[in-house]
Amino acid sequence: MKNNQEREINQKARDLLNQLSALLRTSQIHDTANEAVISGTDRLVSVVNDLIVSQGSVGLKLRGEYFYLNDSRIRYTLEHLLNFDFLTREFKKRELGSVIFSSSVGHEDIKRFIAAFISSSFSQEPFDSIEKKMSEVQSVAVEKLMKIVETESLDTRKMVRKTYSNAVTYTGDIIRKIRAGEKVSLKTAKRIVASMVDQIVEEEELLLGMAAIKNYDEYTYQHSVNVSILSMALGQRLGLNRKMLTDLGMMALFHDIGKINVPNEILNKPASFDEEEWKIIRKHPFWGAKALLNLRKIDEFSVKSAIIAFEHHLNFDLSGYPKIRSRFELDFFSRIISVADWYDAITSARVYTRNPLPPDRALSVMLENSGTRLDPLILKFFINMVGIFPIGTIVMLNTNELGFVSGTNQLFLKRPKITVIIDRDGYRIDGRVVDLTEKDEKGEYIRTIIKTVNSARYKMTIARYLQ
Ligand SMILES: [Fe+2]
Ligand SMILES: [Fe+2]
Repeated sequence: MKNNQEREINQKARDLLNQLSALLRTSQIHDTANEAVISGTDRLVSVVNDLIVSQGSVGLKLRGEYFYLNDSRIRYTLEHLLNFDFLTREFKKRELGSVIFSSSVGHEDIKRFIAAFISSSFSQEPFDSIEKKMSEVQSVAVEKLMKIVETESLDTRKMVRKTYSNAVTYTGDIIRKIRAGEKVSLKTAKRIVASMVDQIVEEEELLLGMAAIKNYDEYTYQHSVNVSILSMALGQRLGLNRKMLTDLGMMALFHDIGKINVPNEILNKPASFDEEEWKIIRKHPFWGAKALLNLRKIDEFSVKSAIIAFEHHLNFDLSGYPKIRSRFELDFFSRIISVADWYDAITSARVYTRNPLPPDRALSVMLENSGTRLDPLILKFFINMVGIFPIGTIVMLNTNELGFVSGTNQLFLKRPKITVIIDRDGYRIDGRVVDLTEKDEKGEYIRTIIKTVNSARYKMTIARYLQ
């Protein structure tokens, strides 16, 4: 009986989050007179009031990555993930920790809350702005998000950079050792990946920014670390817990380990590969699986990491390599790593000696392969994560300024934060950050992206800023 009741409340709580998220999205685009906004508001009113009847009061609280209804965590399944993810980010952005409905609400109360929520994104102190506006509404109160750890942002930047460079150095070491046939201990790898997991959870954007830097000299090691970071960030959005994220990150770090058997002359060849060379390259998944099984005692971890190394070029529809005889379903981790791997490979210069694509082009190439080479659902989450204009994309603005994307905006995918490096008169400037959601007095956007720029000329500059 109790279980049934709990399930029913959880169902309603999920409904509350879905309705709230849907209404916020609709209200972003339409004004309050719009049919969809009005019916969305009514639906939210009835969900809230329904819960008030059974629960007394309704406190919707964000703690860490989860929402709670009063004190129980709201559980959800994959289909709700986009909505939940969206709400988490929007709450965090505003430092909004809880919304409390203390008595039954009316259409007007909800309308005012939504308006306060949306307009606060243009305020310097978004939480204060919501709180002030809601102080006039009896039945709705808000509380500020509690930060578990307060870190100074410069220190955080340093820490993230350190973790990243440790990971690159360590990956280099371990690849050299395996190539030389030496025994390696995975303890350090685990420690490094665990600290990356911490930072993915806390400072995702900074770590993703590090992964956007492409340094041509350390390609192989950096590629492994980048794929690891991208996979973990993606895994987090797909709802994996910490233990699973650590496993995923470790396995991603070693996905290309089979390349130790590919002769350096081929790997570093400046021109395109011929058919013979491709034949050798295509063996690296198989060699990787073998190397991982030889690495140490066979256990669950080594078997799973071998499977992933084996599968990472097989493609979602199994059209890739190595050629296999019967059909089976790719491991979930393999499908995640394939997306991360492909993205990093086509945005970097060294892999298979193609010209690197700018991040936005890379995403559209990947979309063309959604459902064939790549898992469509996982790809959707990935695009949602990196945005239409991922961090590092060089863009030209309608103001004639040139800059690069330095922060994404989940609500307005086309309006990220831009670090301007060339001003409208063509002078190089010291990286001023502008927010493309900013509007002038007339309510028009001040800046808009008109095109992305694919130019090696600015790449070094960007790397410097991101570091
Ligand atoms: Fe590979
Ligand atoms: Fe790879």
